[in-house]
Amino acid sequence: MYICLCKGLTESDIRQAGEAGLTEPERLITRFGWDDSDCCGRCADHIDCAATLAAESLPCFAACPARSSSLT
Ligand code: FES
Repeated sequence: MYICLCKGLTESDIRQAGEAGLTEPERLITRFGWDDSDCCGRCADHIDCAATLAAESLPCFAACPARSSSLT
């Protein structure tokens, strides 16, 4: 599924960034060029959603004890 039409990025691209450790909003903006003048700005406006998606892709996310305790 496409996440960013301006850059042609899919959910898979965001997850791959997360797997590589890019989960902070500023790093994602830089990585994907979401502050470029040719972007509509929608993705930068919703950067927290992309950061959450990226963080869920971290290899340690599923086993994180902090995550488990925060969901109970
Ligand atoms: S759709 Fe992603 S910046 Fe425009």
